[in-house]
Amino acid sequence: MAYNQKDYFFKKAKKENYAARSIFKLQEIDERFHLLKSGYKVLDLGAAPGSWSQYCSQKVGPRGRVLGIDLQTVKLTMPNALFIAADMRDLDVGKVMEENGIAPPFDVVLSDMAPKTTGIRVTDQARSLELCELALSTAERFLRPRGHFVCKLFHSEGFEPFRDQLRARFQRVEALRPESTRKESKEIFFIAIGWKGPAGT
Ligand SMILES: C[S@@+](CC[C@H](N)C(=O)[O-])C[C@H]1O[C@@H](n2cnc3c(N)ncnc32)[C@H](O)[C@@H]1O
Repeated sequence: MAYNQKDYFFKKAKKENYAARSIFKLQEIDERFHLLKSGYKVLDLGAAPGSWSQYCSQKVGPRGRVLGIDLQTVKLTMPNALFIAADMRDLDVGKVMEENGIAPPFDVVLSDMAPKTTGIRVTDQARSLELCELALSTAERFLRPRGHFVCKLFHSEGFEPFRDQLRARFQRVEALRPESTRKESKEIFFIAIGWKGPAGT
């Protein structure tokens, strides 16, 4: 299937005014694991074009906050969301928070970051794993104890070692391939619930 093919979820996202069909992956994850609540502070890594942030913005409501970071500019505006265009690999996230009056900790850290694919499977897998490691280290800096973490991995030999890292740090770890994932996609989402905190690792 061509990447841009206008499938069921593409059309549904457009109809419901979401920026991308990815919304339905987060929605399924949230409906299963109940991660997002009113008043929560959410860090959304790899936020563009913005559908996960749209979903989070609605779930956390006016008392909550969403900070979205992406290489690409997010062109949406939401009263409780702030977007930063930057490369997570060299961004001082703490400084960004300080400059924008957003005090950690966060209740939930999400990462839908994906590398630009090269078509060379091992390269793409290795880059995806690097982004997961980066998202996890960011979560460890800014998540509150018992907070939740979600990240996307291109399935590879790195799957089990990374799951082990998560298991050491969170009370419960699940892996899910949401229904709206394209058939040809090798992506899988980790849902890590209840961060044990700095002393728990
Ligand atoms: C699948 S898209 C995210 C879709 C988004 N969750 C949504 O619902 O609209 C993956 C995103 O990861 C971003 N990304 C990849 N590497 C990144 C990096 N090093 N720093 C920040 N963002 C990155 C890409 O620019 C891309 O927009």
